[in-house]
Amino acid sequence: MAIMPPTSIVFSVIVFMLLSSAITTQADGSGDGKPKATSLVVEVCKNASGETQDPDVTKEFCLSTLQSDKRSAEAKDLPGLVLVSIDILKGRVTDASVKVKKMLQNAKKGTVAMYALSICELQYENVVSTLNICQAMIKDHQGDKGILHSLRLPHCVDIAGDTSNECQTDLEDVPGTEALQTDNERLRILFNLNTALVVPYDVRD
Ligand SMILES: *[C@@H]1O[C@H](CO)[C@@H](O)[C@H](O)[C@H]1NC(C)=O
Repeated sequence: MAIMPPTSIVFSVIVFMLLSSAITTQADGSGDGKPKATSLVVEVCKNASGETQDPDVTKEFCLSTLQSDKRSAEAKDLPGLVLVSIDILKGRVTDASVKVKKMLQNAKKGTVAMYALSICELQYENVVSTLNICQAMIKDHQGDKGILHSLRLPHCVDIAGDTSNECQTDLEDVPGTEALQTDNERLRILFNLNTALVVPYDVRD
């Protein structure tokens, strides 16, 4: 029976150590590709889920939404996180807007669906423009504590949400728009999350 030379033993030990450290790293959960939530994200999501009437706006929904954008981990304060959150929202509204345009290409001229979709197209554009104004409030006044109350940031987010909901009302009972109604339902939950995130800037507080 051959005796292992000392260099092979050292080599085997090194391989073993590398392997076990790789296994430990994976067990930490860092192997699933999702960044860990920062303590700010966790605290903000805990607060937001306590501020909403919407049972769909859970802490977990908030965490998975914010974690879907890696800039959330770089946010230093609540306004910074709201900027990211509104960006996520704008992305989803833009997706819905693209879908409406495609549906309009196939919609029969003069039908109730065509008119309803045309109005929704405008409303989505309005929603994005309004959300841009809400983001400007934050960007133009970074570090200016307390000003977001007087600028009525929550009101701005509400207006955008109301406009988005109007599209859903327009589509009620309109055949062929079911897929868009499902998107709108998801958008509503995302709007409710954003409304909950900006509650600390409510003037009543
Ligand atoms: C969460 O809510 C608590 C209690 O209202 C507040 O003191 C804290 O500042 C909030 N955290 C953030 C990050 O907004």
